[in-house]
Amino acid sequence: MWNTTSRLSQWLPASTLLFLAACSSPSGPASAPARMEGAVSTVHSPGRKLTLKFGLSADGQPTYQLQFGSKTVVQPSRLGLLLQNQPGLDQDFTIARLDSSQHDDTWAPVWGEVKSIRNHYKELAATLTQEAKGDQKARRLVVRFRLYDDGLGFRYEFPAQPGLTYFTVQDERTEFNLPADHKAFWIPGDYDSNEYAYVTSRLSEVDTAPIEVIQQKAAPHTVQTPLMLKSDDGLYVNIHEAALVNYPAIMLNVDTKGFGLSSQLVPDATGAKAYLQAPEHTPWRTIVVADNAPAVLASKLILNLNEPTTLTETSWIKPQKFVGVWWEMHVNKAGWNYADTSNIKLAGTDWTKLKPTGRHGANTANVKRYIDFAARHGLQSVLVEGWNVGWEDWAGNWKEEVFDFVTPYPDFNVTELQQYAASKGVKLMMHHETSSAVTNYERRQEEALRFMKQHGYDAVKTGYVGRIIPRGEHHDGQWMVNHYNRTAANMARQQIVVDMHEAVRPTGLHRTYPNWLASEAARGNEFNAWSSGNPPEHETILPFTRLMGGPMDYTPGIFQIQLESWNPGWNKGRQVHTTLTKQLALYVTLYSPLQMAADLPEAYNQHLDAFQFIKDVPVDWDDTRILLAEPGEFITTARKAKGKDEWYLGSITDENAREQTVKLDFLTPGVQYQATIYADAADASWDDNPMAYQIRRQPVDRNTVLPLKLAAGGGTAVSIKPVSK
Ligand code: NOJ
Ligand code: CA
Repeated sequence: MWNTTSRLSQWLPASTLLFLAACSSPSGPASAPARMEGAVSTVHSPGRKLTLKFGLSADGQPTYQLQFGSKTVVQPSRLGLLLQNQPGLDQDFTIARLDSSQHDDTWAPVWGEVKSIRNHYKELAATLTQEAKGDQKARRLVVRFRLYDDGLGFRYEFPAQPGLTYFTVQDERTEFNLPADHKAFWIPGDYDSNEYAYVTSRLSEVDTAPIEVIQQKAAPHTVQTPLMLKSDDGLYVNIHEAALVNYPAIMLNVDTKGFGLSSQLVPDATGAKAYLQAPEHTPWRTIVVADNAPAVLASKLILNLNEPTTLTETSWIKPQKFVGVWWEMHVNKAGWNYADTSNIKLAGTDWTKLKPTGRHGANTANVKRYIDFAARHGLQSVLVEGWNVGWEDWAGNWKEEVFDFVTPYPDFNVTELQQYAASKGVKLMMHHETSSAVTNYERRQEEALRFMKQHGYDAVKTGYVGRIIPRGEHHDGQWMVNHYNRTAANMARQQIVVDMHEAVRPTGLHRTYPNWLASEAARGNEFNAWSSGNPPEHETILPFTRLMGGPMDYTPGIFQIQLESWNPGWNKGRQVHTTLTKQLALYVTLYSPLQMAADLPEAYNQHLDAFQFIKDVPVDWDDTRILLAEPGEFITTARKAKGKDEWYLGSITDENAREQTVKLDFLTPGVQYQATIYADAADASWDDNPMAYQIRRQPVDRNTVLPLKLAAGGGTAVSIKPVSK
């Protein structure tokens, strides 16, 4: 039932998809477990929860091993890299020196789930040397480990040295040899997309072949990170990366027989992985480990491994809620395109001469309607997609000159809307769909940002649908990784906040670029509009996988669950696979500083009592408590509003109805609060009766135990505000 009818199959011809599928390359399983010989260094995490061992194998391969108490997280596993036209940095090493240190400080994120973050780790830096051989001079490689109580990060560093200056990484040898056939929550490795529904299986059962390709799948046993694992002896393990800079994304090849994971880097157009110049280093490889699921969601390891921002003035960075001329296109009530044609040349076309479709969503009057709605309900901004020329033939043609990002359609009055929005105290959010013609976007970005500033825009949603130009590059390769990071930096210089769709999945870089508020890089709510959709368990897995690296623009808040009413012919039988109040709970369980109220104003006007929760819920927090969680089953999270003694609770379930009790013992002692509980009605369920809800109020304090009753595919949202005396 949940087979992917992909976004691209909506927008690309089937022949292209078949071609892309045929490009998938095979890859071998991880090799037999490594063995450490001779001296082994041992590091304990600050609270001694985790133990790292590092040493060399008999042939001088760097090897590590990780324990959680007496349980093995990673068995001895190889490290290293293979280079093009040079001997590998994976063997024949001796240990030149070992430097140990520790670090403990606390820092404040510009926005986030908590107001301060402790960065407490033990570090081991192993300097390894290879002797000169023939023409090859001696070389040095540093492997730096940071061991926290909730996991391990490590990376390769290439110091400046005569024997290694310019080099090309052909493959990374990093392995994660797991001790057993864990349960895994995975999506297929794809060089260009993460927009898949998750599969839950044993590692031995990982097989991506039957899954319909979204863009370009890697080998049949290759999966994306973050990869979430659960062992039979109760360990929760999450493997990902931090600070992906100047390097391709990593994917993991699963050895379905021996449960080893080996690395696969996303290639460039020539098959190479990364072009580097010493001194340089790779991203951190991360392994978050805990003996309970909530602790994985609470981990700040990935953020801690990213560099602090260099921005000193950040008051212009505003977490925000927004509405948009958007869902009406996804449910096919309106279109992005203005003209009734599918053959356009950007240069020389006079759009005023073309026949309009009559269903263009981004027209001045309609945008004003959204501005009015945002102003009435205190939402900060309005996204408008389809405002600029080029949507007539934007997808599937691998065409370079599609959009110029500065020319509005004839029925979208930039100046009038700028003035109207300003008069209502609302901001407009820019949309830059690049159609993956990234060379074109790079040429035009400076002018596009100038246009934004001139017209009062200081937020932009970017998008990368389709195949990348430069042709042969991938969304998750080194060239594009550099593009996303450069774009975030360009935007920061102009004091613009950004939300990237179809970009590489995040790795905590929002610490470094706090104006990079969110990314998509997973299967968003929009899949419910035009595909078989997202199964009810989907949102209980996302925080354990995609969200480990950073916030997602999931676009929650769909109230009109049955979609037929928007366009009866097209949306027959289609629905969102949750109840209405689960959509509310997502504002708490899926953290983002940028949250869309994704439905149409007319849908919200029917349920203004429930919409109150979306109006109230903050997007920036002082504190977060993960109260109950199990990947694929349920998540219950409470968060304290920034600078206020107000709490918000979200609880969601998969396709199973559940009853839970939550203690409100996080509330301030001696304070009385009123809870407003937005719950599924007694007879609600995601498939039969998804829009039935009840709202009730009750006094609560820190001794209250709140019973929650979640419908199948349902959820509860609660706001808890102090009672004023
Ligand atoms: C895909 C994005 O995820 C979606 O939000 C957007 O509306 C379309 N591309 C068009 O840019
Ligand atoms: Ca998308």
